[in-house]
Amino acid sequence: MIAKLIHSRYLIWVLLAVPAIPFIDEFISPSRYYPEMMQRSGVLSVQLLVFSLSITPITLVLKPYDWGRVISRWLLAKRKYFGLAAAAYAAIHTIFYLRFIAWDIELAWLEALDWPFGTGWIAMILFILLAVFSNSWGVKTLGKAWKPIQRFSYIIAIASLSHWLLLDFFIDDALYWIVPLTVAKLIHIAFRVYPLFAKATDKLV
Ligand code: HEM
Repeated sequence: MIAKLIHSRYLIWVLLAVPAIPFIDEFISPSRYYPEMMQRSGVLSVQLLVFSLSITPITLVLKPYDWGRVISRWLLAKRKYFGLAAAAYAAIHTIFYLRFIAWDIELAWLEALDWPFGTGWIAMILFILLAVFSNSWGVKTLGKAWKPIQRFSYIIAIASLSHWLLLDFFIDDALYWIVPLTVAKLIHIAFRVYPLFAKATDKLV
């Protein structure tokens, strides 16, 4: 029963949806401070994105251990949902922004021409693209192109972190997420480039 619950996709959907409650509440009865909602939705989206991109390196590090392989299988099966949740919170963030500027599309367009906002839009458009093709229909339609297109998630990470750095004077907040992502990717590259390194860690069992 508990194992079934842990592997259920409904559980992860519910857990990932819980932080959306204050945002939905704010949509229904606007009362909160705009920068607070922007900060919470934007940062949450970045956190989920960084976590989903770190799953492969985490599984490589956990590979030598039996318990690690159990966690890895769970993480790999649920990775897609972390990515989709990141896209959903980015969409909420964008809707807060559009509501704040009273849905003035001309103003949104003019602001998008500047790097701090343009980088946000690049991330949002690519998020939509990946979310649309994330299902079995997308895999079938894109065929061999599906996997390379999934790598757009790295462009999303670079664009959204640049957006954060360009908009925010407090860069240390962004660094909390840039540093773990960089470390995770370096570990990933080390496993790819040096198969001997991977073999050595296999022997740690
Ligand atoms: C669709 C285009 C986007 C627009 C127009 C936009 C707009 C904004 C604005 C206006 C702010 C400043 C809020 C304030 O403090 O007053 C902001 C901050 C932020 N945005 Fe976006 N954003 C976009 C996309 C994204 C995406 C896709 C992400 C994440 C994946 C993101 C993450 C963040 C983060 C982390 C902050 C900094 C929050 C803080 O520390 O205060 N944004 N965004």
